[in-house]
Amino acid sequence: MTTELLLEEEQQAIMEGLLSQQKFINPKYFYNHRGSKLFEQITELVEYYPTRTERSILLTYAKDIARHIDSEALIIEPGAGSCKKIEYLLNELHPSVYVPQDVSAEFLAQSASRLSNTYPWLDVSPIASDFSQPIIIPDKYQNYRKYVFYPGSTIGNFEPGDARQFLQQMRELVGKQGGMLLGVDLHKENEVLHAAYNDKKGITAEFNLNTLYHINQILEAQMDVSKFEHYALYNEKQQRIEMYLRSLIQQDYNILGHKVTFAEGELIHTEHSYKYTLDGIAEMAESAGFYLEHSWLDDNQLFSVNYLRAV
Ligand code: SAH
Ligand code: AVI
Repeated sequence: MTTELLLEEEQQAIMEGLLSQQKFINPKYFYNHRGSKLFEQITELVEYYPTRTERSILLTYAKDIARHIDSEALIIEPGAGSCKKIEYLLNELHPSVYVPQDVSAEFLAQSASRLSNTYPWLDVSPIASDFSQPIIIPDKYQNYRKYVFYPGSTIGNFEPGDARQFLQQMRELVGKQGGMLLGVDLHKENEVLHAAYNDKKGITAEFNLNTLYHINQILEAQMDVSKFEHYALYNEKQQRIEMYLRSLIQQDYNILGHKVTFAEGELIHTEHSYKYTLDGIAEMAESAGFYLEHSWLDDNQLFSVNYLRAV
């Protein structure tokens, strides 16, 4: 497909969201280069416990984790971003090939090149793509045992049915000898969750609003970002964070020949971040052809790292 057709398809997909009854923007649009950098800032916030907690689990249990995963293997990491988390495991796992994949192409290229320079013994082979597309492993790597590393609770950004489907695809990718190391955020008190997505410095707000800058570029639109605000809440019943952009005023735009109207207070949905229980993770793993072999948790049981063995 030509670049022009791809752009048109992408524009149409975004327009569909802006013209829906409940407006939405796919969460992948958080992540242009600026968005990936803002996400890195989020990971360092006091309120955002997931990154530091998962890091401490990976560092504490690296040896134990390595007992489940063969060395000299091929490790695929969807949504790898900064490629920092694999570093906590490299010396214990000692894989031969690392395939980081991400939609934020320029940021991924920089992260992969940094990793490759730091670990010259590791074959780093990045793939810039959307994880709604199948991940194609080059033929020359087909003989390696394969494992998927999916940290950060990025699985929580899928709707539950889509999460299962994604795990099924990962199960197909690794085959029956492989496995998956999956980081999942756990259900917890409302206040902790609310604070994690409403930080005092306003970085999460900036990250959320960046979506509008990003789609403005793709749509060649001029939506006024200063006329929207960040809004995030924890929906206890659904066990998920819901993130929206709220229009501060009534505003109209002409975008690619369509009239797009935002009423004052209208919400555009940008993200769900589901929180799981260990039983929920086991059930989801089983439905995708995996067996939850082990879960490692921090002392406060905030976050989990799970080894899923293919069955
Ligand atoms: N794995 C890292 C980053 C998590 S942030 C960590 O644990 O800290 C989520 C990552 O997924 C971002 O790097 C983002 O660019 C990527 N991502 C989001 N949607 C994606 C999609 N549809 N396809 C591929 N990558 C995606
Ligand atoms: C990438 N993902 C797991 C993050 C999350 O917590 O759902 C994205 C994020 N959204 C707001 N803050 C961080």
